Amino acid sequence: MSKSAELVSLIQSRAGAEPVRLGLVLGSGLGHLAEAVEGVAIPYEDLPGFPHAGVSGHNPKLVIGSLEGQRVAVFGGRAHYYEKGDPAVMRLPLEVLKGLGAEGVILTNAAGSLRPDMPTGSIMCLSDHINFSGLNPLIGEPTDACFVPMTDAHDPEWRAALVASAAGEGVSMAQGIYAWYSGPSFETPAEIRALKILGADAVGMSTVPEVILARFLKMRVSAISTITNMAAGMSAEKISHEHTKAMAPLGAAKLEKVLRRFLRDMG
Ligand code: HPA
Repeated sequence: MSKSAELVSLIQSRAGAEPVRLGLVLGSGLGHLAEAVEGVAIPYEDLPGFPHAGVSGHNPKLVIGSLEGQRVAVFGGRAHYYEKGDPAVMRLPLEVLKGLGAEGVILTNAAGSLRPDMPTGSIMCLSDHINFSGLNPLIGEPTDACFVPMTDAHDPEWRAALVASAAGEGVSMAQGIYAWYSGPSFETPAEIRALKILGADAVGMSTVPEVILARFLKMRVSAISTITNMAAGMSAEKISHEHTKAMAPLGAAKLEKVLRRFLRDMG
């Protein structure tokens, strides 16, 4: 049995075998949403091979249960490339999600804004992304399945539904391009100026490898950033992980409204 199949049966033995509809991956400072789910919580440490998701501000447990009438799998924390140098660090959790029956996954993250009209506390639905790191979680994948098309990687139907959910909730949500920077150091002001020229609207240290993996696994994927700061050189604000965690709740309340409405309206 594959590692992911073993984990799927372990999870189903604790949480029941009913398929989940979709997964939610919670970013820095957003881990509290895992508490909103009525269901079974399994700490990552009980799931052999799951990443430790050791970055503070995360809530490293998998919660399987009901949110707004949908059966969901909520990943209270993610692991990042910069923790151990593995761009495929989220592959096993996403394979498990697929094995649990999910049609797709919504990824959330904290990000810096490159757009003055998208200040701290805003949320942005990713319309596309730029892989500024040059890394790829599928390097070494031995079959032709590695050649994953990335046109419309950010599912157009789900994006439209998320935009409608935001409008329905009276939440202002931008759409834009997210650039993946490897981290863990933040960007220099010169890198941010370069990213602006390249067309990025926000920058962060996650999500893009997970989008690639989700598409590889033939799952739908959408992602939403909460803006925790203006990117380097764009304001007098000091950039730090502490600041990210402190500012994430500003956007998190909006994000939660949009996600809840999206789930309710999924039918
Ligand atoms: N850069 C990269 N990652 C981030 C930022 C940023 O400015 N803010 C939150 N995560």
